[in-house]
Amino acid sequence: MARLEIITAPDPRLKIKAKPVAKVDAGLRRLMDDMLDTMYGSIGIGLAAPQVGVAQRVIVVDVAREGENPNPIRLANPEILWRSDEMMVANEGCLSLPEHYAEVDRPAAIRLRYVDHENEIREIDAAGLLATCLQHEVDHLDGVLFVDHLSALKRGMILRKLQKAKRSRVLEKA
Ligand code: NI
Repeated sequence: MARLEIITAPDPRLKIKAKPVAKVDAGLRRLMDDMLDTMYGSIGIGLAAPQVGVAQRVIVVDVAREGENPNPIRLANPEILWRSDEMMVANEGCLSLPEHYAEVDRPAAIRLRYVDHENEIREIDAAGLLATCLQHEVDHLDGVLFVDHLSALKRGMILRKLQKAKRSRVLEKA
């Protein structure tokens, strides 16, 4: 497995609509494993392929808590089939928006269909943290970041700070 470089916002590659996967083959399984490696290495609970520069509909998540057994889920072409009317507010972060967090309101439960790492079609019912995480990652496949759920004022503030941080990183490297 290999660690991949995570793209940070603002970046046009985070705003594209990712393409569906034709088949989950060995190459795609390797991408999923590399994404998991990258996610665990960054202490994240979810990662979407566009965040590592791959414009395909692939995400990985693991919401197991510290001390629990790892529970990685590899998903291709995830599709939300049902959303609860009940909403839930969660404090969200994102590996592509390092050090920024905000409360986001989303459906509290969802049903999702996806293709697993063995190219089998599966369905999953998710609630709580898993539901939040899956919705956040599926958003990435449509070029939507958690800040896009906030007011323009809050979003602008966070993106400007990220842009500034990015510029100073470039200067450090120069
Ligand atoms: Ni994210």
